[in-house]
Amino acid sequence: MRIDRYISKFEGLSRNYSRSLIKSGKVSVDGRVVRDPSLHVEENANVTLDGSRVIAFGMIYIMMNKPAGYVCSREESEGPTVFDLVQERFSYDLSVAGRLDRDSTGLTLLSNDGLFVHHVISPKKTIEKEYLVQTVKPVTPEQIEAMNGGLLIGRGEFSKPVSVRTLGENSVEIILTEGRFHEVKRLMKASGNEVLTLHRSRIGGLSLPGSLKPGEWANIGEDALKIITGAE
Ligand code: URA
Repeated sequence: MRIDRYISKFEGLSRNYSRSLIKSGKVSVDGRVVRDPSLHVEENANVTLDGSRVIAFGMIYIMMNKPAGYVCSREESEGPTVFDLVQERFSYDLSVAGRLDRDSTGLTLLSNDGLFVHHVISPKKTIEKEYLVQTVKPVTPEQIEAMNGGLLIGRGEFSKPVSVRTLGENSVEIILTEGRFHEVKRLMKASGNEVLTLHRSRIGGLSLPGSLKPGEWANIGEDALKIITGAE
């Protein structure tokens, strides 16, 4: 397959945009920068765009450092969405694997692979999500103990975190495997405290890299998927 078609097909980009990326030296094949859009490559070649592996066969997996103020849903009509941050590059039908609230920040996964999205969010798969929370009031040992024991968080729902620990006077780390609506906020409230800021720092074995600034995103390769899901 021609390299311009390869980039266009597997990154969901227009052919013209693919060509301009190739000509500007952003594409490598097996470690060598290529500038000729007509070059032929095998589908299993190691093709990178901006240093990230291009995953052939149409599956896109993105990790993003979600900034505050962006929603993870296309349905909510108000305000910018996380999809706006990637839409220039991707025409694929991406979904978010584990939504964050508008005011929450941090690690957000987007993919067009429905099975992967389901795997990440399914409570049955018990993939850990780690949250760093700044609290309104100082955190007490009783609150930590109550959250670790599990609490009723309203609407007849019970939340039992994997672990909750104090990080500072007004900050805690909460690890959950479920992703109930507003779960961290409702858990904090049930313990007698309140969330001031909420940041997701890890999903499964994938931690948000410090190099990824708010609003930035990167393609993640198959190895990262294995780290997230623990799958072989
Ligand atoms: N729990 C919440 O309350 N909000 C989030 O954004 C994520 C988890």
